[in-house]
Amino acid sequence: MIVARTIAELRAALQSRPGDGAVGLVPTMGALHEGHATLLRSARATDAVVVMSIFVNPTQFNEQADLAAYPRTEDADLALAEAEGVDVVFAPEAAEMYPAGFATTVSVAGPIAETLEGAQRGRAHFDGVATVVTKLLLAALPDRAYFGAKDAQQVAVIRRFVADLGIPVELVVCPTSRDSDGLARSSRNTRLTPDERARALAIPRALQAVRDAAADGVADAGALRARALEELDAAGIHPEYVAFVHPDTFAPVAEVDGPVLVAVAARVGRTRLIDNTVIGGA
Ligand code: PAJ
Repeated sequence: MIVARTIAELRAALQSRPGDGAVGLVPTMGALHEGHATLLRSARATDAVVVMSIFVNPTQFNEQADLAAYPRTEDADLALAEAEGVDVVFAPEAAEMYPAGFATTVSVAGPIAETLEGAQRGRAHFDGVATVVTKLLLAALPDRAYFGAKDAQQVAVIRRFVADLGIPVELVVCPTSRDSDGLARSSRNTRLTPDERARALAIPRALQAVRDAAADGVADAGALRARALEELDAAGIHPEYVAFVHPDTFAPVAEVDGPVLVAVAARVGRTRLIDNTVIGGA
């Protein structure tokens, strides 16, 4: 496994690769867990060359404290990458990605980037994601890039600018990987106390309650939302949002008559968690 610290090293590593097989890119911010591993396995099963990036992207953090507190576990991350058969890890310093004079932003307009996570975390969040993912795609020029459905709005943002800019890459969206108790895997879960973790399970339960009610024929988003809020409330969780939106445009949906993304964000103690499900026959 090659560890490249600069774009030039990454390109050199990809140039000297054996054969002319397809390249798969798995962008990450490190602190890898089983959720990331499912993306790596999907890439390993499909592409001849698997590139994983590790870059804690400063421009997508709205709070300096959150950036400073973000777990950095490079040695363990490299070991996991090696075990999953990654060929090249791209782990640049911030100055490599944002050299002096950097002045360009990739910015997606409209509800896709401005509502929900975009509203809660601020405009800069998805601008930061779009800009860094554009740079990673241009650095690695992969045939495929792998992202997790857990960050559904991030996927919608990336889909939009990849289509708008005509970037020749296939996006592969991998299902949300969950612990056996149903909690979506996240680097932030390690910050939960045992009591908070038990309460956090109300989030997947709320999504399950919505799926069950939708399967029973409830189509009114307000009524479905009330079911979710009941579960959350019982655990003392006051969500930032429980939203019913179109999975691609993020336009709000009042009646479920096609695929609808149900997205939840909530703080449990000091830890902010997000999760989602799709109902309505996706
Ligand atoms: P990060 O949070 O490290 O996540 C990297 C990738 O792993 C994302 O595509 C994310 O959706 C996916 N992922 C995380 N937890 C998952 C889970 N439980 N199941 C399935 N996939 C999961 O997302 C980012 O980094 C950054 O915003 C990035 C895209 C790298 C740009 O900086």
